[in-house]
Amino acid sequence: MAGKKESDGGWRKFLWNSEKREFLGRTGGSWLKIFLFYVIFYGCLAAIFIGTIQALLLTIHEFKPTHQDRVAPPGLSHTPRSDKSEITFKMDDPSTYEKYITSMKAFLEKYSEEKQMDNSKYEDCSDIPSKYVDRGILEDDNGVRKSCRFERSHLGNCSGEKDENFGFSKGMPCLIVKLNRIVNFRPKPPTNNNSLPDALKGKTFENYIPIHCKNKREEDEHKIGAINYFGLKGLAGFPLQYYPYYGKRLHPDYLQPLVAIQFTNLTFDQELRIECKVYGDNIDYNEKDRYQGRFDVKFTVNSKS
Ligand SMILES: *[C@@H]1O[C@H](CO)[C@@H](O)[C@H](O)[C@H]1NC(C)=O
Ligand SMILES: *[C@@H]1O[C@H](CO)[C@@H](O)[C@H](O)[C@H]1NC(C)=O
Ligand SMILES: *[C@@H]1O[C@H](CO)[C@@H](O)[C@H](O)[C@H]1NC(C)=O
Repeated sequence: MAGKKESDGGWRKFLWNSEKREFLGRTGGSWLKIFLFYVIFYGCLAAIFIGTIQALLLTIHEFKPTHQDRVAPPGLSHTPRSDKSEITFKMDDPSTYEKYITSMKAFLEKYSEEKQMDNSKYEDCSDIPSKYVDRGILEDDNGVRKSCRFERSHLGNCSGEKDENFGFSKGMPCLIVKLNRIVNFRPKPPTNNNSLPDALKGKTFENYIPIHCKNKREEDEHKIGAINYFGLKGLAGFPLQYYPYYGKRLHPDYLQPLVAIQFTNLTFDQELRIECKVYGDNIDYNEKDRYQGRFDVKFTVNSKS
């Protein structure tokens, strides 16, 4: 009992010692010094933190990435995308390819005519492959650059307009392909035929970056069948007048040119590996990056059961 009272008194004395005028064992002056110390200490920490961020922000340009370790070469991406790049479906069962069609429709939404009506945002660029379009300096503070129109109707049988199943219901699936955007990148068409596949050797590529698909494995050579390419007016490639891209701020409505690829005579009921590649003097490939300038997909088209 007594002990309890004594300890209570001890606590109270510790909280507020009226003889020594100490609060929690320290005098007001001592507390003030500690408080000041921490104010200065944390103030300095905050100053260093903010200063570092500010210094880094100063090096960042508003319109153009300061550090572009991926200026070239660009990635090549395709829609539909799927797990492990496997596109497997059954021709006579729409539920097996519905997800592919849905993603293609969603992707093509911004390529519809209605979305490109505004003449302050879009302009008609040439229908044939032409030179890069210079739209002024990149380091501009204001103004939005116009973008070239690219209408989905160029994609012909893969536009989703004539055949809303994108060929899947006939066992002739389409893929829609684009080069990923890179600010201020000017892709250069191939000028020598060393790296070209046999099918493209001897051709000239005036103002466009050609794309070509073929069997990845030798044993699939005669199983891929004919491939149709649908780009700008049937072009099997990416025309240069859509480049360079000026970045998100100056080029908010930019549309990448597209190429749709239709596999019209795939051998059914077996897995086929197909590789698609773009070719150009400043486009190359990387063992570690499966999407740099190329991609491969595995198709399995199951015929009617
Ligand atoms: C597009 O599809 C139609 C109907 O299936 C076909 O007759 C035509 O040859 C196709 N065009 C191309 C370029 O494949
Ligand atoms: C490759 O290009 C050279 C000229 O650049 C040409 O003479 C040669 O025939 C081409 N080779 C093939 C296989 O087309
Ligand atoms: C499709 O490919 C087969 C060989 O796999 C061939 O016999 C047939 O003629 C091809 N069909 C067309 C329309 O090219």
